[in-house]
Amino acid sequence: MPSTYMPINFVHKLLHRVEEGWDPISLEYAKKYDRFASNEIDTVLVKRLDALSSGLEGKRVLDLGGGPGHYSVLFAKCGARVTWHDVSREYEKIARKRAEDCGLSLDFSLGYLEEAKKFGENSFDLVFCRVCWYYSKSDRAFGRLLYGLVKPGGMGYIKCNTSTFSRPKGMRKLQSWLNGRLWWKIGHPMPPHGRIAKLIQNYPIERLELDYSSDLCDVVLFVKRRGVPCCPTAA
Ligand SMILES: C[S@@+](CC[C@H](N)C(=O)[O-])C[C@H]1O[C@@H](n2cnc3c(N)ncnc32)[C@H](O)[C@@H]1O
Repeated sequence: MPSTYMPINFVHKLLHRVEEGWDPISLEYAKKYDRFASNEIDTVLVKRLDALSSGLEGKRVLDLGGGPGHYSVLFAKCGARVTWHDVSREYEKIARKRAEDCGLSLDFSLGYLEEAKKFGENSFDLVFCRVCWYYSKSDRAFGRLLYGLVKPGGMGYIKCNTSTFSRPKGMRKLQSWLNGRLWWKIGHPMPPHGRIAKLIQNYPIERLELDYSSDLCDVVLFVKRRGVPCCPTAA
């Protein structure tokens, strides 16, 4: 099996500690993205996930890489107990304000995507991961982590731009090639089209919906199979 863990990403993490105040996002960028995202909110998607979950009221939702918190707040408006998890303090401030302005309470958790492991297996009715998968340190390990966080019968939703979207040049082209061919992840290259679904299909699922209408972006929705005693090791 090809190696997916690149030491360079771990060295980066050691040198850039969130608990010591490191933030990859500047206030200026966070505000800019917040404005952009405010015009792009997919309320139809939230309604659909609510319906597919037979109502999110009282259910646990993890917004992985939640950013400015638009989706966290929408899930909370559906009555869900929402955990926002992200690496950026700047986004946390924006997401906190957004929730407060709506009179909603969210659980906030600051850390790298991989640190979501602390929430434990089978913890969430919905794990929502929108446009941040590629920041994970290993596609394979992150697929396993994300699947594991979902409760049996619960749902995972992933939307991620693909390497076709990123149109990398120079060094980034090499990073993308290494990731696409050898699964070596240096930095955060976007995954090749189809990889996320293939990784999720390594695990027991009872439903899989793929939106491949654009090769620039993969959308994967799955329901974790019930009656599986423990999260199995990936194939
Ligand atoms: C493009 S934004 C998407 C935000 C939100 N999910 C949305 O759909 O609007 C990517 C998010 O990933 C977060 N992020 C980047 N690298 C991360 C990492 N290593 N661990 C956790 N979050 C990370 C950023 O702070 C940012 O909030």
